[in-house]
Amino acid sequence: HGLLGEVWNDEMSSSMLGSRMKKVVQNYQAMNKYGVKLPNPSGVSGRPKLTGPELLCQLKKKVEVTTLTSDLEPFSALPWASQLPMKQLTSDLGPYKSCAVVSSAGSLRNSGLGKEIDSHDAVMRFNGAPTSGFEKDVGSKTTVRLINSQVMATDEHRFLSSSLYSSGVLVAWDPAPFSSDLTQWYNRTDYPIFTQYQRYRRLHPQQPFYILHPRFEWQLWQLIQDNMAEPIQKNPPSSGILGTVLMMSLCEVVHVYEFLPSRRKTELCHYYQRFYDAACTLGAYHPLLYEKNLVKRMNLGSDREIYMDGRVTLPGFSAMNC
Ligand code: C5P
Repeated sequence: HGLLGEVWNDEMSSSMLGSRMKKVVQNYQAMNKYGVKLPNPSGVSGRPKLTGPELLCQLKKKVEVTTLTSDLEPFSALPWASQLPMKQLTSDLGPYKSCAVVSSAGSLRNSGLGKEIDSHDAVMRFNGAPTSGFEKDVGSKTTVRLINSQVMATDEHRFLSSSLYSSGVLVAWDPAPFSSDLTQWYNRTDYPIFTQYQRYRRLHPQQPFYILHPRFEWQLWQLIQDNMAEPIQKNPPSSGILGTVLMMSLCEVVHVYEFLPSRRKTELCHYYQRFYDAACTLGAYHPLLYEKNLVKRMNLGSDREIYMDGRVTLPGFSAMNC
């Protein structure tokens, strides 16, 4: 009856997009704001397509989830270095058995997934995604919140004053130069992540707050590009996939909700806002289409679980035999 034909197919390409979105994606594919350098001009490897288990092992081997620490140069020489954590996120947090990653997709609306999401040992949420008023669909537990530097720095998010950000562990990231030269990044961040970090830490000195190492962003970007048949946007991966890989380093098993759209798929951007744009689900700035292809290939669960619940199941790094 064609039900399963509607789940994400792992060979989505920009050629399948509508003409408006195709143009936006092609623009980003041509632009190179962060100075991405590739071994060959197309960026497309000639290697055969890897299986799911091979992809998972490549992810575990090539992508290191690292965060900034107070002893890391050039930060260690700065007067506020002691505001940074002394240890890595992965040595402070977890390990957890079962985790949930809650994308902010509009298709979470009326999902009734809240109880299931809260039953996990740790729950990751993104940016300004609220739980209050949406508990039935997204649950109420927040263990880790991954935020981008734009959310930290633009007035409408009220990062310094909203109570939304004050529970759980915070992890922030900013699109850095591809070189991952930390001094270059420090002097030219996309948004003022470091000034906002210092301000927030002064207001909430007890709340754990980490910053992702830009190497992690670009190692993951490289893995996505290496496993796609066409050039992807030369911009960092979305918070959704960064957070999913982060949780794979902390948890035995990770369940990702509505990253691959279920039967509820919609152009509604976020479950918490009345704003419609297909680019939220398919990507414009971020290589989101390709991130989803990769996650589809790595999924241990069934297409039916994607269709009914928008749920994907991924093994944690500790549970993988590579
Ligand atoms: O929009 P925002 O970045 O806050 O959403 C968190 C993540 O959820 C995104 O980075 C993306 O990976 C995922 N998402 C999605 N489809 C949507 C909205 C968000 O896949 N419609």
